[in-house]
Amino acid sequence: MLIARSVRGMNDLFEPELSLVRKLEHNIKEIFSLYGFNEIRTPILEELTLFKRSVGETSDIVEKEMFVIKDNDNEYCLRPEGTASVVRALIERGGIDDSFNEKFFYLGPMFRKERPQKGRLRQFHQYGAETFGIKSPSADLEMLVMINHFLVSLGLTKFDLQLNSLGTKEEREAYKITLSEFITKQKTNLCQDCQKRMEKNILRVLDCKNEHCAAIVKKSPSTLDSLGKESKEHFDFITNGLKEQNISFTLNQHLVRGLDYYNRTVFEFIYSDGLGSQNAIAAGGRYDGLFLTLGNKIDVPAIGFAGGFERLILALGTQEKASNNLDLVIVYADEQGKNNALPLCFELRKLGIKADTSLENKSLKAQMRRADKLNSSFVMVLGETEIATKKVTLKNFGKDQKIEMELSPIAIANNIKNQNRL
Ligand code: HAM
Repeated sequence: MLIARSVRGMNDLFEPELSLVRKLEHNIKEIFSLYGFNEIRTPILEELTLFKRSVGETSDIVEKEMFVIKDNDNEYCLRPEGTASVVRALIERGGIDDSFNEKFFYLGPMFRKERPQKGRLRQFHQYGAETFGIKSPSADLEMLVMINHFLVSLGLTKFDLQLNSLGTKEEREAYKITLSEFITKQKTNLCQDCQKRMEKNILRVLDCKNEHCAAIVKKSPSTLDSLGKESKEHFDFITNGLKEQNISFTLNQHLVRGLDYYNRTVFEFIYSDGLGSQNAIAAGGRYDGLFLTLGNKIDVPAIGFAGGFERLILALGTQEKASNNLDLVIVYADEQGKNNALPLCFELRKLGIKADTSLENKSLKAQMRRADKLNSSFVMVLGETEIATKKVTLKNFGKDQKIEMELSPIAIANNIKNQNRL
C-alpha cells in the first residue's frame, strides 16, 4: 500500500510539461530583461501578518486560503502571492531611492488552499513583475505592453486584455458608497456569501461567480464614473497608448480584483479558449499605497502583475516534445556489444552527444522499443560484427535513413552533429 500521496492540489511535474515550463522561464527572462527588469527571489515562508495587512483581511486568500504554520507564538504562512514579499524585501533592504525607479520580475511556487479544479491548484507557479517608483501611467502602459509581448512570444492569440480603473483611495471609497446604495436594494436577490460580503467589503460582491449576483453586478454603477480628473487622465493615457501599440482591450467596468491593495489601473488577461472559469492567465494593477501600509516611511508608487504557469501550459497544450530528446541510443546485439556500449556512451557524452544505452540485460526488440519511447533521433546497433569490422550504422528514426561510419566516438559525434544541423 502506498505510504504517502501527494498533497491535494499539489502536482508533480514530468516531461513534456517540464519542457514547456523551461520554455516559459526562458521567454520570461529574455523578454522581461528587454524591458529592464531584474530577477528577485524571496522566501516561500513569510510572516502571516504580511498578507493580512497587504492582500487584506476580507480577501478570500486571507480569510480561507492560507497555509498557516504555527511555531510557538509565531504565525507563518506559505506565500499566496509574490507582491507583498517583494515590497517587504525592498523595505527591509532600506526602501528605494525615490529619484530612481526599480523593476523586478520573479518566478516561483505560491500556495492557496482553494478547491482544486482545472487551472486552479493549491501549489501553483507564478511569473510576475513589479515596477516601483513611477507615478506616471507610462509604467502601467509599459507593463501591459510587456505582458502582451510575452504572451504573443508563446504563440498565444486567443486572449483578451480586460481593463478598468478603481481611482484613488478616496474615489474608491466614494464608489463603494454608490455601489452599496445600489446593491442594498437588491440584497434579498444576492447569494448568502454576497450578503455577508456586502457588510465586510462591498467590492467583493463584484467578484461573485453566482449567476444571480453576476446579473445584478452587470447593472450596477461603473467605477469609471467615480474617477476624478487625474485618475481619468491616467486611465486615458493607458488606453490611448494601447491603441497606438495595436493592443486590443475590453473595458470591464466591474473589474476590481480579489486583493485589497489596488488603486487606479487594474487588469486581467483572459484566455478565451477552453480554460473554463479559471481563465485569467495574467492579472494585476497599480498599488501605490502598499509601501506605507507595510511600514515604509515614504510612499512608493507601484504597478505589477502575476500570471499562472499552469494556466499557460493548459492554454499551450502539451504538443511540445520533450526538449532533452536523446541524440542516440546504442542498442547492443550481444555480450561484447553490451560491454562496449556504456564506455562508448561515456565518450560520446564528453563530446556533447546525448547518448544512452540500456543498463540492464534486455532483448534487442525491447531495446528498440525503449529507444523509440525515449524519442531518440538516432539508434545504432553494436555487437561482435561492428567491433570486428570497426564499422557502425546510424539509423535516423525520423528520416528512415542509414549512415555508415567508422566505429569511433569522434566519427559518430560529428555525423550526429552534421545531421542535426541539416
Ligand atoms: P492574482 O490574480 O491573485 O494576483 O493571481 C495572479 C495569477 O496567478 C492569476 O491570474 C492566475 O493566472 C494565477 N493563479 C492564482 N491563483 C491560482 C491557483 N490557485 N492556481 C493556479 N493559478 C493561479 C496576484 O497574485 C497579484 N500578486 C498580482 C499582482 C502583482 N498585482 C500587482 N503585482
